[in-house]
Amino acid sequence: EQFFTQSQDLKGKKILLTAGPTYEPIDPVRFIGNRSSGKMGIALADAAARRGAEVTLVLGPSKLSPQEKNVRVINVETAREMHEAALLHYPQFDAAILAAAVADYRPKTVATEKIKKKGEELQLDLVKNPDIAADLGQMKKPGQFLIGFALETNDEEQHAQGKLERKNFDFIVLNSLRDSGAGFNHDTNKISILFRDNKKRDFELKSKHAVAEDILQAMIDLFKV
Ligand code: CTP
Ligand code: CA
Repeated sequence: EQFFTQSQDLKGKKILLTAGPTYEPIDPVRFIGNRSSGKMGIALADAAARRGAEVTLVLGPSKLSPQEKNVRVINVETAREMHEAALLHYPQFDAAILAAAVADYRPKTVATEKIKKKGEELQLDLVKNPDIAADLGQMKKPGQFLIGFALETNDEEQHAQGKLERKNFDFIVLNSLRDSGAGFNHDTNKISILFRDNKKRDFELKSKHAVAEDILQAMIDLFKV
């Protein structure tokens, strides 16, 4: 795939990104994770850097990493580590794009030794993780932007609209799971963008690189307003 980079239309802008899954430890050798590859968020980091932005990527455990050398990567493992890094950096940034698949819950306690196999059943107590998006939404200052993602299986638009408002996003990128070839571990994605004024834009199924350009263009349009 070739990139004919438009212009340096994000020059001077500082963009913070979260991407990838989080791993929540159970004991020294086990964790609770999810199937996020980090592909979409990493594609966004690369695309923003190519367009001249100063990019910091807070990245959960992913096999992938950005191609562009001038993307600063902060590697984290758990939701709490991602939360800490994102809250520390957001005040210095013009926008944050939250593409990470953050674990909603973590084990209540982490066993210091490997848990031994015993009875027929095992219960794990889980507690809620911090909501990075909601906290950044609270911190957001005039002139700053916040962009989120949603992946829903039912009542997609209604759920996404709720998240847009609850988390104080400027827009939310809704991933369609209805189309094969979209979502986790695919190279392509089909999105809709929902805005605060209830406007919605539907996009075609395309490569995650092309989707990244569409999302950045929507963000640049906000910067101009
Ligand atoms: N998000 C986050 N921190 C969390 C959970 C979610 O920053 N602890 C962000 C995601 O990166 C995404 C958006 O919030 O941009 C929506 O994530 P999602 O999991 O769809 O929303 P939840 O509020 O966790 O709702 P649910 O999983 O119940 O649908
Ligand atoms: Ca969630």
